[in-house]
Amino acid sequence: MSSSSSSSRARSEASPRATATPGRIPDVVVVGGGVIGLVTAWRAAQRGLLTTVVDPEPGGGAARVAAGMLAAVTELHYGEETLLSLNLASAGRYAAFAAELLDATGQDPGYRRCGTLAVARDADDRALLRDLHALQLRCGLSAEWLSGRDCRRLEPMLAPGVRGGLRVDGDHQIDPRRLGRALVTACEHAGVTLHRARALRLTMDADRATGVVTDDGATLRAGRTVLAGGSASARLTGVPRHALPPVRPVKGQVLRLAMPADAPPLLSRTVRAVVRGNPVYLVPRENGELVVGATSEEMGWDTTVTAGGVYELLRDAHELVPGVTELPLTETLAGLRPASPDNAPLLGPTAVEGLLAATGHHRNGVLLTPVTGDVMAHVLTTGLLPQEALPFTPRRFDTATPETSR
Ligand code: GLY
Repeated sequence: MSSSSSSSRARSEASPRATATPGRIPDVVVVGGGVIGLVTAWRAAQRGLLTTVVDPEPGGGAARVAAGMLAAVTELHYGEETLLSLNLASAGRYAAFAAELLDATGQDPGYRRCGTLAVARDADDRALLRDLHALQLRCGLSAEWLSGRDCRRLEPMLAPGVRGGLRVDGDHQIDPRRLGRALVTACEHAGVTLHRARALRLTMDADRATGVVTDDGATLRAGRTVLAGGSASARLTGVPRHALPPVRPVKGQVLRLAMPADAPPLLSRTVRAVVRGNPVYLVPRENGELVVGATSEEMGWDTTVTAGGVYELLRDAHELVPGVTELPLTETLAGLRPASPDNAPLLGPTAVEGLLAATGHHRNGVLLTPVTGDVMAHVLTTGLLPQEALPFTPRRFDTATPETSR
């Protein structure tokens, strides 16, 4: 997509609330109605772009499975410092974003400023956590080292063997299911058309993307098409191979348990650790739900919940908080994180005119929802990526010769 042509088109088409009129081709079709697709559509519609979302079940997607940790600090990894700046930008917008959604829809998306405690069970864990703490401090982040005793003072239900931990008061949570529902309503209120069908194929006119064909027989034309279908963005038929987002599914199994209504909650904040090399986290909701996640498995498109996955999550969670095994297990589910080669999202124009991406958010889809909406609305209305998103252009993965995928 060339910046100048899309920029002038967007400006001329923008109006306070775009409405569908017969014969008017929508400005934007967003393929995928998970939180990333919905926030893109909502923000685009707020800027006057006539927008359609294509998804059989808007509000679903990977976020339906996710625990909703907003863990910019405790999920920091070596080599991901560039991503950190985007994660922090999004975390910093969350309170206002959640308030705006509530205001726009009357639905509370469940933003909770609970903080996080990352704990170590043994000397090896403690060494790992000390390294993470050093990296956090080098990056200017706020995290406090606590003794095991101080960890238990904060969270009395922690296992007696906990050897220390990191208190991160800035890593909060949101309820991704409520977030998805609120975004559906926000889109509806903003005039977004929700086309409840599956996108089958991208349509092209010469070298330009012109929309999609859906499995209910519709052909949806639009000025710009946004691939926002998580890992499925990598397999939409008709996308020229050189513009297909290089995202792959990484399976995560997640459990939901119910904390007793008549007793104090088991935990007051998110508790997490790396147990035998596997991350495990326990996210307590105000409504009494306790979300335990998550496996990380390279299993292609498989979303089977396995006995082994459930066993390992419960075993590891039990080592941190023994009381979890007393709780009713209310749900088990697996979802697919859209992982990119550098674990960072792809935001903005692809190599094909009229085709943009908003995918590849991997472990940070829920966290990155507010900033993704802002970035995508900016690029859809101006044709240009804002400064904060320049490192995340899909063009960083451009390869060789154009060729049609299928
Ligand atoms: N961000 C948590 C996960 O991907 O499991």
